[in-house]
Amino acid sequence: MKMLITGGAGFIGSNFIFYMRRRHPDYALVCVDKLTYAGNMETLAPVLDDPHFRFVRADIADRQAMYDLFGAEKPDMVVNFAAETHVDRSIEDPSVFLQTNVMGTQVLLDASRKYGVKRYHQVSTDEVYGDLPLDRPDLFFTEKTPLHASSPYSASKAGADLLCGAYQRTYDMPVTVSRCSNNYGPYQFPEKLIPLMIANALADEPLPVYGQGLNVRDWLYVDDHCAAIDLILEKGRPGQVYNIGGHNEMRNIDIVKTILSILGKPESLIRYVTDRKGHDLRYAIDPTFIHEELGWSPETKFQDGIARTVQWYLDNRAWWEKIVSGEYRDYYERMYANR
Ligand code: NAD
Ligand code: DAU
Repeated sequence: MKMLITGGAGFIGSNFIFYMRRRHPDYALVCVDKLTYAGNMETLAPVLDDPHFRFVRADIADRQAMYDLFGAEKPDMVVNFAAETHVDRSIEDPSVFLQTNVMGTQVLLDASRKYGVKRYHQVSTDEVYGDLPLDRPDLFFTEKTPLHASSPYSASKAGADLLCGAYQRTYDMPVTVSRCSNNYGPYQFPEKLIPLMIANALADEPLPVYGQGLNVRDWLYVDDHCAAIDLILEKGRPGQVYNIGGHNEMRNIDIVKTILSILGKPESLIRYVTDRKGHDLRYAIDPTFIHEELGWSPETKFQDGIARTVQWYLDNRAWWEKIVSGEYRDYYERMYANR
């Protein structure tokens, strides 16, 4: 079995590579990544010498590069993690989101069709459903919820999902799509809520909470997401969308307070800042379908996962300190200085 994994130098893609190495040591894994600001070769250090692993630096939207790669490697499966992923960056400049997330997906679908890939899996997000009201805790996203994206990021992911559905139906391609809730765990880029708050708390810098901190996200430990994708690849039905989430809804302010409490830092570090434009209120996945059809359930309880994650950032300061002291600093200034 040869699997092409795109975006494997990023947060979830790298965790997926490590997960697959443990679960399927006989699989050949080829990782293709453009190494944008979010991609990091240091993350992949543990697998670089593995004879069953190959890394290729390329852009998924580069048609010739992808056709050459597919022609040379002839992968059995493709799992597409590669994307521009940060909502705030998409609000600042949507263009690269459309280029990578929509056009890149189209190129991968064309290449998968041309080279007869046996399964193409698109890693999507619950954000394609838009948001749910805060005062209706009885409502959840199911696979039948209409797409209703709010940000340029989620619109680009929704566009890619629609392309996947269209290619599956029109060309009868073996395509599956998964839509997961917010992930957390090791190797997440420190622009995202949890690692940003850990890094700032450790530096005794203000913790910027958007609005009142009352927006709700549904948090899942990254290995549980990886396990769900692995199951979909093994047992999922082509043409099917699978929602992935663990009924772990939390308000942002409660996440921030949990991190402060684990680190023994004072809540006086919290700073309420101007809200994100178009800020989605609440995400909440109904995982009934994947549970009943594939038997998937999350294994990591939030209090264990968040403690493990904070400990990982404490133990791996070199990994993220290099990021927060480099060009990311300019982004941080731009995004937060006058907020
Ligand atoms: P990330 O930003 O950490 O990593 C993205 C990776 O894609 C990076 O290594 C980057 O270099 C690479 N990349 C970007 N553009 C590329 C291009 N044009 N060609 C090749 N590689 C490119 O992202 P993540 O958080 O690991 O998310 C991975 C996937 O999971 C994305 O598709 C995202 O939409 C989806 N997702 C993320 C979450 C979450 O909470 N992080 C939840 C649900 C779904
Ligand atoms: O739901 C899945 C999605 O989760 C993925 O598709 C995205 O790629 C991923 O980035 C994530 O999107 P969010 O916008 O939910 O994640 P983020 O970490 O940016 O923000 C989480 C919440 O925290 C959100 O309500 C905004 C808030 N926030 C975020 C940052 C960075 C703050 O209050 N302060 C901050 O500084």
